[in-house]
Amino acid sequence: MSGGVLPGAVRAEYPLLQSCTYLNSNSTGAMPRAVEAVLAHYWNTMRAWRDDTWDGWLSQMQAYADGVAGLISAPAGSVALDVNLSAHLSRLGTCLDFSGERRRVVVTDLEFPTVPFIWKGFARYGAELVVVPSRDGRVDEALLEAAIDERTRLVCVSHGAFATGAVLDVARVAKAAHAAGALIATDAYQTVGTVPVDVHALDVDFLMGGAHKWLGGSEAAFLYVRPELLPTLRPAATGWLAGATPLAFQAAEDFAPDARRMMGGTPAPLMVLLSQPGLELLKGVGMAAVREHSLKLTSRLMARADEAGLQVVTPREPHQRGGVVALRFPGDVDVMKRLVARGFICSHRGYLRAAPHFYNTLEEVDAFMDALVHEQRKEAA
Ligand SMILES: Cc1ncc(COP(=O)(O)O)c(C=O)c1O
Repeated sequence: MSGGVLPGAVRAEYPLLQSCTYLNSNSTGAMPRAVEAVLAHYWNTMRAWRDDTWDGWLSQMQAYADGVAGLISAPAGSVALDVNLSAHLSRLGTCLDFSGERRRVVVTDLEFPTVPFIWKGFARYGAELVVVPSRDGRVDEALLEAAIDERTRLVCVSHGAFATGAVLDVARVAKAAHAAGALIATDAYQTVGTVPVDVHALDVDFLMGGAHKWLGGSEAAFLYVRPELLPTLRPAATGWLAGATPLAFQAAEDFAPDARRMMGGTPAPLMVLLSQPGLELLKGVGMAAVREHSLKLTSRLMARADEAGLQVVTPREPHQRGGVVALRFPGDVDVMKRLVARGFICSHRGYLRAAPHFYNTLEEVDAFMDALVHEQRKEAA
């Protein structure tokens, strides 16, 4: 399907779109109607429970992990699942050694709060946090490069910034990290599902994201590990499912050879099952078409904001932005609240954020901007 014909038939798959103008997919994506059947099937499973259900669930979880791997051009077996990104990142931290000279973790001030919070926690194991400042809603890659040296253990940066949607040139930063002998992890929660992501092109060691925003799923988060690194990772925060032969139910001798070694204990299959239909719909359309449509909608949002004299914080260049447009003006929090009350769903994280997805129309963007400008004028009056 080409971006020119989106949203097309896809739109009918998302019941939420019938009751409001939903431009909030960077926060929580709309879920497809197929989720209802998954829930019904889950209940049927529970009310006739047998333990061998787990065999099916574990293979369905693996299929989802491999499906996500396909979306980011990673090989099968390189993606692990957990309920949230924080769990993945914390576990990853327990694989790293912060006791020597190479103990720094370089982040930016645009990270989602969980990222610096976790690395501050690792200070008790010797980690030292270095925060590179942003300017005008984005981080200059040259500043990041300058912050990376032989003391850097890990560079841990967002691919797309949650508040402004700014997209970092992660491949460039990865080059600097590797040249300095450091590893690089990227939080791609705000890009996977709205921007085509290829782990080889980015050349990252780790890439994390989750299902409940751009992937139209539930609380299921993923961690990609560069396959060559897998044998070197021995997480201290672990669980029986990470063992080589978990279903033998015996003391684990070693970790699983694939990304399952980055899982913990009993997982949450329901969240993964609920996430499968959203992933399939997105993959059916294809990321090139999704991105083309997204750029059309976000460009219109920006043009309309310019016309109204509102400050656009998100960078203009397509390669420097994801699916979010962040706006700043006096009273933006109250305007956001009034828009939500009127059924124009958006969010506020320092800026008013509007995030259309592949199921939205240009007409919705225009109606949203009409309402926003109206509320902003009232606010300014
Ligand atoms: C960039 C980014 N990272 C991480 C998260 C969430 O992290 P977690 O899954 O740990 O709640 C979000 C949004 O909730 C986000 O926008």
